[in-house]
Amino acid sequence: MKGIVFTEFLELVEDKFGLAVVDKIIQQSNLPSQGAYTAIGTYDFSEMLGLLKHLSEHTKLSIDDLLLTYAEHFFSVLASSYPDLINKYNDPIEMLSSIENHIHVEVRKIYPDAELPTFEIQEKTATKLVMIYKSSRAMYSFGLGLMRKTFEHFDATAKITLEKLTSDGTEVKFSIVKTNE
Ligand code: HEM
Repeated sequence: MKGIVFTEFLELVEDKFGLAVVDKIIQQSNLPSQGAYTAIGTYDFSEMLGLLKHLSEHTKLSIDDLLLTYAEHFFSVLASSYPDLINKYNDPIEMLSSIENHIHVEVRKIYPDAELPTFEIQEKTATKLVMIYKSSRAMYSFGLGLMRKTFEHFDATAKITLEKLTSDGTEVKFSIVKTNE
């Protein structure tokens, strides 16, 4: 997992819960990196799981809720770091249906070792998108947060529902229906 995902995560934890909590979850997680992340480095995904687990225990918030909130923050990081990737779109359904064949393809050019999910489109109309998320990392709540922010970015609203196809969340069906204009 790319370092930027860790550095932004720890920054948000510091903002919301304070530096003492950052130190505490780093200590508790016994990290090979010892929590010294650089944005362009690459670190084991298990370090993120450790940090999330201990933050969840400390805050009593579920890992899904933490990932959802984190994704909403991460969207603004992506939007300011890669404006050209997002500005190419003027519609949230168009953008979300292009993650697999455009956005993450470009991400892989920038970070060849990025660990990205796959999205398989099952149904697409002007107002509806059904796609299957697949990833061994099971970060579907992170995907949900990014999807919500995508609609907000275009001043649009949507009803997004998800259905786990595997109990561990490595395959999840997203149904996204645009609700207004
Ligand atoms: C992960 C870039 C938009 C879904 C990532 C990562 C990067 C990235 C750098 C981390 C990879 C790693 O740590 O190795 C971008 C950029 C975007 C964008 C630049 C737009 C400009 C989106 C959107 C979604 C999405 C709109 C909505 C579904 C995900 C998910 C992951 C991820 C779920 C977590 C990894 C996993 O589940 O396996 N993306 N992304 N991305 N991205 Fe994107």
